[in-house]
Parts: sequence; C-alpha cells; structure tokens
Amino acid sequence: MTEIIHINDNNYNLSIKKCADIIKGGGTVVFPTETVYGLGADAFNPEACSKIFKAKNRPADNPLIVHISNMKMLDRVAYIDDELKEKMKDIWPSPITLLLKKKNTVPDIVSAGLDTVCIRFPDNRIALDLIEASGPIAAPSANISTKPSIVDSGTAIKELNGRVDAIIDAGRVKYGVESTILDCTQTPYRLLRAGAFTVDDIEYMIGDVYIDPLVKGYTQSKVALTPGLKYRHYAPSKKLFLIENEDKFRDFISSGNVQDFFILSSDQNCSLANGECINLGKDIYEVAHNLFYDFRLLDASDKKYGVIQSFPENGIGLAVMNRIRKASFLIVKGKENIDKLNEAINETR
Ligand code: TXA
Ligand code: MG
Repeated sequence: MTEIIHINDNNYNLSIKKCADIIKGGGTVVFPTETVYGLGADAFNPEACSKIFKAKNRPADNPLIVHISNMKMLDRVAYIDDELKEKMKDIWPSPITLLLKKKNTVPDIVSAGLDTVCIRFPDNRIALDLIEASGPIAAPSANISTKPSIVDSGTAIKELNGRVDAIIDAGRVKYGVESTILDCTQTPYRLLRAGAFTVDDIEYMIGDVYIDPLVKGYTQSKVALTPGLKYRHYAPSKKLFLIENEDKFRDFISSGNVQDFFILSSDQNCSLANGECINLGKDIYEVAHNLFYDFRLLDASDKKYGVIQSFPENGIGLAVMNRIRKASFLIVKGKENIDKLNEAINETR
C-alpha cells in the first residue's frame, strides 16, 4: 500500500515525521526536490536501497545519488578537499551534485560497486527537512527507468502508486531538469551531466571545468560519462523527432503535413503551427520547467509522433538540449535524416 501524503502548512511537521519514520524503518518515499521528484531510501540500509531498484526497474549497475542536508552528513559519506568544501558551504543548497571518493559507510548497492559517490544538497524545504529528520537519503529520479523524469505529484502518483511506501504530494517542482553533476575526483573537474546549475555558475563559483562533447547528448553509445547515461533516457514512448534547424522546423509546423504530429515548440513558434501545438514557454527556464511534463502530454495524446524544435545551448539550455536529444527517436540536422522524417509523414497520410 502506498500512502499519499498531501503535505500542507497545517500537517507539515507531522507529514515530515511520518515520511522520515518510513525511511528510517527501511521503506521508500517519493519526495520533491527543486529539480525533479526523487525516490528515496535510507542511504545506509542496503536492503532499503534495493527496493528503489525494484520499484523503478533500474539496472543494478546504475548508482544512486546520496542526498544530504548539512555539511556534517557530507563528512559521513565522502572525502572532499578543504578548499572545495569551503566553496560548497556557500553554494549549497543548490542543484549541483558532486562526484567524490566515497567512504566505506556507503553501501556497494548505492555506488554500484564504484569507489565514488554522487553527493547532492537539494534546495527544497521539504527535501531538506526530510533528510534532516531521517539522515542521508539515496535517491535517483522517481520515474520508472527510461521514462521522462517526474516533475509533478500527479504523475508521481500515477506512475508509482503501489510501488513505494509513500508519495509526498507537493505539486510541481521548480526547475524541471535534474541537477548538474560535476566529477571532482580529477582536475580540471569534469561535467558529467548538464543540469539546472549552469556551467557559467560552475566556472564563476567553483573553477575550471572540462566539458566532454558527449554532454550535448548526441550519442546513445556504449561510451557514457556516467553509468546511467548509457541507457535510453527521458524518452516519451511516442517517437519524437527533433528538427535542429529552426527555419526547417518552422516550415514543417506551418505546412499541411503535420496532422499526426504533436508539436512541442516555443511560445513564438506555436503561433505558426498548423495544428495542435504545446507551448513549451516564453524563455528557456519555462521550457526546462515544462519539458518533461509535456513529454507526458505527448504520450497521453492521440497523435502518433511528436516533433520538437531546438533551443540555444547557453545557461540551462545546455541541459534542455541534452534531454531533448536523448529523448528523440530521430534528430533531423541539415539533410541528415530528412528522408526518415518524410517517411514518417508519408506513413501518416
Ligand atoms: O536532480 C537530481 O539529480 C535528481 C533528484 C532526485 O535529486 N536525481 C537524479 O538521479 O537525477 P538519477 O539517478 O536519475 O541520475 C543520477 C545520475 C545517473 O546517470 C548515475 O549513473 C550517475 O548520476 N551517478 C550516480 N552515482 C555515480 C557514480 N558514483 N559515478 C558515476 N555516475 C554516477
Ligand atoms: Mg534519472
């Protein structure tokens, strides 16, 4: 049985206590963070953590992030050099996750047998109060593996009811894309996943960072920056076409060929669409906020295909484009794959 916790100002402390007791008792709780919903368990309890993998159908070689709510907790789970620690005292809580050498207190199941662990100090009141009351929480994004991350409690309940012990119903999250992951075990530090914390902010507040081209999200290859990223990710179950050239995208959505396509585009381009169009937003933060939510609308729609435009890759746009590319069935770039897009159009005629 899953308990749905409708948290509000009147029952706040009781709700947090109830969820913390579930975590301490070896159970699983779906909770909000500022990025996406997480599916958490006691980070020091291997049996509890194994329930996360089961609930999500997550492959065992994909490690979990350990969530903390103060710097003392960090010392219990990972090694960090003094200079970086001082910087993080000013930066955290925020959506930047650090990959660090792990301490032996972290069970193998959490790190998938690696000698490193990802540490995250989330900027969300409910998450922080829960962790403070329960101790460090191991949690991946709450979605079932391969599906888009969950950014609202309605989807969390639909997808995970019956699979976890409790779900905190706290509405929509703030950012809508996951945290940025920075590998601090080598210098210069390496960006492992683009996310809600921008590269400009890393360079300004932390230091130089190496950005592998894989961060852009083009390949679905066996070479992966993190174990999790070799798997298909964030994907709606409908086939999504990304048209990278904006003029081509505009031509496409204003043509008469789009009846069977669910169009996902910026506010500006939506007005050109000859058919149903989901407005992702007026600026890149709105697009990030809506992206995963709208992928789920695509799946719920009666359209056979989705088509989406590209966005500039600065700021949070780097994370947005990474998620879009990984979610796409086909990327139409220049002449590349245009024949395959035409095939799909012909098929729907
Ligand atoms: O915003 C977020 O980070 C959310 C919320 C819930 O905190 N969490 C999240 O977790 O996105 P998850 O598990 O969906 O993504 C974590 C990524 C995976 O690609 C995983 O492979 C990688 O981090 N990762 C975790 N531990 C690692 C490790 N020790 N070495 C390399 N990669 C690691
Ligand atoms: Mg995930």
